[in-house]
Amino acid sequence: MTQLAPSILSADFARLADHAREALAAGAHWLHVDVMDGHFVPNLTIGPLVVAALRPLRDEMRSVLDVHLMIEAPDRYLADFARAGADHLTVHVEACPHLHRTVQAIKELGLKAGVALNPATPLVTLEEILPDVDLVLVMTVNPGFGGQRYIPGSTDKIRRARQMLTRVGSPAWLQVDGGITPATAPEAAQAGATVLVAGSAVFGGPAGVAQNVAALQKAVGLA
Ligand code: DX5
Ligand code: ZN
Repeated sequence: MTQLAPSILSADFARLADHAREALAAGAHWLHVDVMDGHFVPNLTIGPLVVAALRPLRDEMRSVLDVHLMIEAPDRYLADFARAGADHLTVHVEACPHLHRTVQAIKELGLKAGVALNPATPLVTLEEILPDVDLVLVMTVNPGFGGQRYIPGSTDKIRRARQMLTRVGSPAWLQVDGGITPATAPEAAQAGATVLVAGSAVFGGPAGVAQNVAALQKAVGLA
């Protein structure tokens, strides 16, 4: 079963909860929250305060706050995001020299632990940690900005990630993030992705959010 995780990065921040509610009401399940620090990635976005502000909506809509940490030394902020009400914390392997410790710390906070890979980072870097993680995020663009184009070689990487998960019998979600649209979502889903993050394809463009969510659902056979 494929899930949609709208990235609030492309939402209208002046009416964030209402815009996000539209996506959830249209059938999306998770809310993907992109945290950027201006170091690990060039862009600066949001922190725990925004996660806390979205928590009532998450409760009202029985959603999931899926927080993607594109920050250096994420260990410093895990407890803050847990307190703010995050459900999932995903860290980048490139930012975590002690990834095992970081993953255990997320789980000790009672949250689901995800690990993310940049496009040029090989899957083999996940091999030892795979049995411990709840979510694997294969980046399908270089992280930092919404609205970029899906890197075509990603589909083969998703397929190989799916094979790795199957080989170790892992039930972890396989999430993809970046450039997911009704045109690219089908190949990502067919390659084995189970959670599709989409920002501009949900909150951008001339059509409304409900129509955008419907188009993505239709593309992957959810509607
Ligand atoms: C990219 C972020 C993504 C981004 C996706 O650095 O991690 O979640 O918001 O945006 P779109 O779907 O527009 O590529
Ligand atoms: Zn993201």
